[in-house]
This record gives sequence, C-alpha cells and structure tokens, in this order.
Amino acid sequence: MIKEKENTVQLEHSGLDQKTKDMLQKFKIVTVIGSGTMGNGICHVFAQSGFHVHMMDIRQDAMDKAIATIGKNMDRQIAKEKLTEEQKAESLGRISTYTDMAEAVKDADLVIEAATENIDLKVKIFEQLDALCPEHTILATNTSSISITRIGSHTKRPGQVIGMHFMNPVPVMKLVEIINGYATTHEVTQVIHDLSSFLGKVPCVVQDYPGFVSNRILMPLINEAIITLQEGVAGVEEIDTIMKLGMAHPMGPLQLADFIGLDTCYSIMNVLHMGFGKQKYAPATLLANMVQAGYLGVKSGEGFYKYTPGSKDKVVSDRFSSKSWK
Ligand SMILES: NC(=O)c1ccc[n+]([C@@H]2O[C@H](COP(=O)([O-])OP(=O)(O)OC[C@H]3O[C@@H](n4cnc5c(N)ncnc54)[C@H](O)[C@@H]3O)[C@@H](O)[C@H]2O)c1
Repeated sequence: MIKEKENTVQLEHSGLDQKTKDMLQKFKIVTVIGSGTMGNGICHVFAQSGFHVHMMDIRQDAMDKAIATIGKNMDRQIAKEKLTEEQKAESLGRISTYTDMAEAVKDADLVIEAATENIDLKVKIFEQLDALCPEHTILATNTSSISITRIGSHTKRPGQVIGMHFMNPVPVMKLVEIINGYATTHEVTQVIHDLSSFLGKVPCVVQDYPGFVSNRILMPLINEAIITLQEGVAGVEEIDTIMKLGMAHPMGPLQLADFIGLDTCYSIMNVLHMGFGKQKYAPATLLANMVQAGYLGVKSGEGFYKYTPGSKDKVVSDRFSSKSWK
C-alpha cells in the first residue's frame, strides 16, 4: 500500500525550473469527483503523467464504464505509437475507484470536481470537500459556467478554489481554461498553470465572469445558429456547411451543440442571460423546446442530427430534413 503511493511523477526531463519542480513534486494524489465524459478524461491524463488518481463517483457502474473507456482510449494511443502497452498498464494501475468521498479525498493534494453541471450539487460537494480534505488541498472545478467565486464562498478556503476547465475529449484537446475566483490566490493560480503545462496542455488564465471566455463566445455563436435555423434562414446542413467551409471551423455549430448536449448549451445560455441581464443572451426558443422535449443531441440519440449506435453517418433529424419544416 505504501509502495502504491510512492511518487511516480517524472519531472527530471520536464524542462521546468527547479522551483516549479519542487512544487509539483508535492502533488502525489489527485482525486477526481465524477467519472462521466470529462471525469474519465481527466483521470486518464493525470494517471498517464504519473499521478496517483482517486476516481470518485456515486455510481460504481459509471466508474467501471470510465475505466473501460480510458483503456480503449489508451489503446488508440498505442495504435498511434504514442503509448506503450507497459505504460498503459502502469497508468491504469495508478487509478483507484471510490464511492466514499471521505476515503477518496483524505490524502488528496488536488481535487478536481467534474460532477453534473448543477449549482446546488456543486455547492454541496464543495462544502463536503472543504470539511473532508487536508488543509493544503487545492479544490478545482471543471464547471463550464458556474461562478468559481460563488463555489469558493461555500468553503473556508476560497483562496484555494479555482476553475480548471478541460475541453472534451480531454486526452486530445490542448486547452485548459484556468479561472481565477475573486479570492483565488496568485500562488494557487501559478501552481495550476504549471501543473497544466506539465500535463502537456496549454493553460490560459481568465477572470470569473459568466461563461468565462470559452463559453461566453462559443455559446452565443451556437445560440445564433439555432435562431438562424428557427427563423428558416437556412437548413441544418447549410448552416453547418457555411460555418465549416466558410470559417474553417472543424465542425458546424449545430453538430457541435449535439456533441456538447443541448441541455448543457441551454443551461450555459441561462447563466449568461442571468449574469449579464442582456436580451442578446436569451436562449433560442427552439433550443428550449428541444431540451424540454428530451432531444438533447448525441446523448439522447437525436438533436439536430440523428445518431444510430455503430453508425458514423451524419443524418439530419427528420424534423429538419424538409426545407418546409417551419
Ligand atoms: N461534456 C463536455 O463537453 C464538458 C466540457 C467541459 C466541461 N464540462 C463540465 O464538466 C462537468 C462534468 O460534465 P460531464 O459532461 O462529464 O457530465 P456527465 O453527466 O458525463 O458525468 C457526471 C458524473 O458525475 C457523477 N456525479 C453526480 N453527482 C455526484 C456526486 N455527488 N459525487 C460524485 N459524482 C457525482 C455522475 O454519476 C456522473 O458519472 C460539468 O460541470 C460540465 O459542465 C463538460
């Protein structure tokens, strides 16, 4: 057991200065709360970088699925010769699963919360983390839109609460948007910045305003694409093709909305609308209707497109396939 927790983070050839190495050396155990889409990716990158990872979820079946997903994603890295079988086994060996939060965080140096996007849930989790974690533990959240300052205000350590916003899929996407809460200390920001670089990511530090930078700009773009569809200016394929080929976006905004989840897009638009109080952030009626009707995109099998398990074809939903759908 003691051997299991030996420091396995290799800093020698990291190119980091001694002060940063000394600081990172202190990070041995990283606990990730929530093992869904984002949680499994975050566990993957930390374990692969040599950290002992405590994966915690209220559902053991979600964690079993997450471990299987990490294994499959590592197999893809092996096929591309970015990882060896031995490194895969070592990385998976560094991940342990917990359904008991107290056990999962009692030795944690850093906790990253990646549970469901819901303010009441996150507040409750941070109150528990504050009570259960050692004093030195930094508490980070992967929230897409909830105020870091507000989350931090529910702890006795708001200086050690920070946003660490990874992008989906975490092992592939380079960006980590780091969000300073109003009370976050400079030292904590520096640590999370250097840690993100060490993980092979590109950190960008921003301040705590609704939607931060990524979703303040992305979500109104997606919302405008939905309003454009709602007004009958063009169809799903035309809107996505124009943005893909005309603006060199890797995928159209409606397809991206399906991947993110329309419920998530709707919830972020509501945060922007409430936070800024401006009509330009009001969620599209079509978006609200689709969420209420359960057409959430990939996760529910249908949004702007239809998704059939096992098929990679992009098929526009029947509701939007006729030009006269309006
Ligand atoms: N999906 C994305 O593209 C994306 C991108 C960036 C950030 N985020 C953010 O990451 C967070 C997680 O999103 P996701 O897409 O991975 O969600 P998800 O629904 O895939 O996973 C959430 C997980 O949290 C678990 N959970 C719920 N309550 C819990 C609790 N009290 N304790 C422990 N675990 C609990 C659930 O069982 C589930 O496994 C959200 O804050 C979201 O806004 C999502």
